Amino acid sequence: MKGLIIYSSKTGNTKRMAEKIYEVLKDKQQMTIKDIRDAPEVEQFDFILLGAWIDRGTLETKTLKFLKTIKNKKLGLFATLGAMPDSEHGRKVIKNLQDLLKDRDSLGQYICPGLVDPKMIEKLKGITGLVVPKKIKEKMIETSLKSRKATEEELLKAANYFAENIKRLAN
Ligand SMILES: Cc1cc2nc3c(=O)[nH]c(=O)nc-3n(C[C@H](O)[C@H](O)[C@H](O)COP(=O)(O)O)c2cc1C
Repeated sequence: MKGLIIYSSKTGNTKRMAEKIYEVLKDKQQMTIKDIRDAPEVEQFDFILLGAWIDRGTLETKTLKFLKTIKNKKLGLFATLGAMPDSEHGRKVIKNLQDLLKDRDSLGQYICPGLVDPKMIEKLKGITGLVVPKKIKEKMIETSLKSRKATEEELLKAANYFAENIKRLAN
């Protein structure tokens, strides 16, 4: 089958995840990988794996918009985020991705940790009062400071998850 991996990445975490998925799948399927900024054409592909960094609990805006343009394709979603995947926030994010795949031919969803850019943390610290409530801001800073890059093993797990789901689909 012909598959297309599309990713949206600002600081490299999601790009790394996309590349690992590509590396694992390319021996089994005919794969192409594209940055979302290159406005990829999806028509000729049998399945799409769409990935993004998490912004306010869901896929960042550009990717959400792109998702709406994908019609009648087998589709999987992947993402990286500052919170740990098994945290309460991580579980919420998974639920949001599941909801985005409702009524679609789903290849599943997978999230990995991603280091939050230190510049972003500095910006967060600078936000005052009314924009973000104090408690939420403190929680976001705490989570961001604890964030880390995904391990090779975690990325490999993500890639194998999609490899399995695609295999199941082919049978
Ligand atoms: C504006 C902004 C909003 C974010 N919102 C969240 C969020 O809601 N939850 C979370 O866990 N991480 C959040 N993050 C952290 C990123 O999703 C995370 O660091 C991700 O791995 C970045 O991916 P990239 O390196 O591919 O750009 C946010 C980061 C930014 C810059």
